[in-house]
Amino acid sequence: MKIDLAFTPYELEKKDFRGKTVVVIDALRATSTMIAAFENGCSGFIPVSTVEEAMQMAALKKDPDLLLGGERNAMPLEGFHLGNSPRDYRPEKVRGKVVVLTTTNGTQALLAARKAVEVFIGAFLNISALSRRLEETGRDVIIACSGEKGLFCLEDTVCAGGIIDRLEQEGLSLSISDAAMAAKVLYEYYEGDIYGMLTGCDWGQYLESVGLGKDLRICAQIDSSRLVPVYREGKILLDR
Ligand code: MLT
Repeated sequence: MKIDLAFTPYELEKKDFRGKTVVVIDALRATSTMIAAFENGCSGFIPVSTVEEAMQMAALKKDPDLLLGGERNAMPLEGFHLGNSPRDYRPEKVRGKVVVLTTTNGTQALLAARKAVEVFIGAFLNISALSRRLEETGRDVIIACSGEKGLFCLEDTVCAGGIIDRLEQEGLSLSISDAAMAAKVLYEYYEGDIYGMLTGCDWGQYLESVGLGKDLRICAQIDSSRLVPVYREGKILLDR
């Protein structure tokens, strides 16, 4: 199995992902929030690029089971039901609901990946379950880090390295690209203190500075979930 990695959505668009599985990661916080929401009974997400698009979709569908979620600069958006904090997605709010989600980087990475044959949602919360799922599909993999406004970010890369580490532990014979190898080495460096890495990275420090530091603990919970959401035909859902 070949494992490659894109540090940013721009890099992903340069890669040939025909016939491959893409894993999208936005460890702080979009993909962690999605997994937390599914754990609380959420039915699905529709990722969209802009705030306007999200509002138009909600206005068009007029569906009481459709909620608006997302952020800009980590802050909830006016008129939206939910922000992008995993703590917002409580069972009483999201059970049975579909969330139209727009975030700065995470949803953009998903949209960049949508033409892949299969797209999985990854975060520290599900790295072991995800690697088992990748083993089952047996396809070559590109791990797509969401990055930060088009640039490298540490937390997504370390999380990608964690997935590669789990694939290796399963005894798979892997062919690892230079970018994926760099992620694996970073994971090995930080694996003993993922929470510390999240509090020290740029976006983690920003989240702390705007009063969202509690989210870091949640996003650092390695393997707290066995769920592997998939992104298919415009919607993120659980297919099993
Ligand atoms: C993003 O998609 O850029 C993020 O998830 C930002 C955040 O809300 O922490």
